[in-house]
Amino acid sequence: MEKKNNIVLCGFMATGKSSVGKKLAEILGLEFVDLDDSIEAEEGISIPQIFTERGEQAFRELELHMVERLISRAGLVISTGGGTVVDPRNMANLKNCGFVIALAADIQTILRRAGSGENRPLLHYDDREERVRALLLKRAPFYAQADITIDTSSITVEETALQILNRLRKCDLY
Ligand code: S3P
Repeated sequence: MEKKNNIVLCGFMATGKSSVGKKLAEILGLEFVDLDDSIEAEEGISIPQIFTERGEQAFRELELHMVERLISRAGLVISTGGGTVVDPRNMANLKNCGFVIALAADIQTILRRAGSGENRPLLHYDDREERVRALLLKRAPFYAQADITIDTSSITVEETALQILNRLRKCDLY
């Protein structure tokens, strides 16, 4: 089967996946799909509510099924959740359906961008800096499997989108 031409953004919370994905889709005239938003729309409740009422494992199953459904489509910019690619089935599916870009940022930038973190159940910790550090360490090997990585710590959403475009063009994509 020919590989589909989707563009997939993965990476830790608050690295800019959704904002950059939207900007990229706008520039390329593609449809933008946010995995978390799709899950919330389908379930009719927010991600924090899913975590509270059903638990993280239930959320991971919804995530897995949403990825399985999305990968049959083409011409999308897909922004994933911070933990999506920690499941190797998701990373394999996403790599099969397109070009996977990991967005990265340093810890202080992540903490600043995450703000109060109230919409991110996995950041509901007293020592948020330590929590981010530990999770980043655990997840780094998964993000490293992306086709390319872009550090967004000191660049804007537009600059990130343009850097991605340059890389896509170098690979003869888009
Ligand atoms: C998660 C990140 C969130 C959301 C959920 C779990 C994670 O998405 O999918 O709260 O495991 O890192 P963002 O990366 O968009 O915050």
